[in-house]
Amino acid sequence: MATTFKASMFPVLLSLIIMLLFATIFPSAVAVSVKLTVPDTSTICDKSMNNTFCESFMKSTAGISTADLAGAGGIILDVSSKSAAETEDYIKTQVAAGDPKLAEAYKKCLENYRCAVSSIADAKASLASKDYEGMNLKASSAQSETDTCNEAVRGSGAAETDPVPVRSRYMCNVLDIVLIIANKLQKG
Ligand SMILES: *[C@@H]1O[C@H](CO)[C@@H](O)[C@H](O)[C@H]1NC(C)=O
Repeated sequence: MATTFKASMFPVLLSLIIMLLFATIFPSAVAVSVKLTVPDTSTICDKSMNNTFCESFMKSTAGISTADLAGAGGIILDVSSKSAAETEDYIKTQVAAGDPKLAEAYKKCLENYRCAVSSIADAKASLASKDYEGMNLKASSAQSETDTCNEAVRGSGAAETDPVPVRSRYMCNVLDIVLIIANKLQKG
């Protein structure tokens, strides 16, 4: 026993020590989750439909600069979930007390936002189970729900500057970033 250890284990031990040293000196090369760097953010935002929005959103959203790609996806899904729920609450007030010519569109919007909130929750569950294709599909379906609402409200005469169109555009921009991240995660 003692002789085999002495002779044949030495190279194994040596390489273990070297690996350990390497991991200590260059933890980022070994760690599974690597933080999002500024160039990563630029790569994401270069693909987005509104680069200005994306860059400022990524800078101003708490937690993104210290998150990895999947972590950032989760944070952005949380932001979009909160925003969709707030918009749903706002629309509820408008169905009853808002512009009567928009009431029908608002009623449809309630359904759209209910679906959007639920799709965003599904997207988050997909992200948690590393099903990035599912995350992509769910985020995309939330995006089309809010877009449908926007078109209904605009089609009924709402101004571009009304809260629902403004919020729908915000939602579209935010979910667009989620889609880019889901694509990147899918490619590994
Ligand atoms: C892009 O986003 C910026 C910041 O939110 C906004 O001011 C601008 O109007 C947007 N541009 C387009 C084309 O939507």
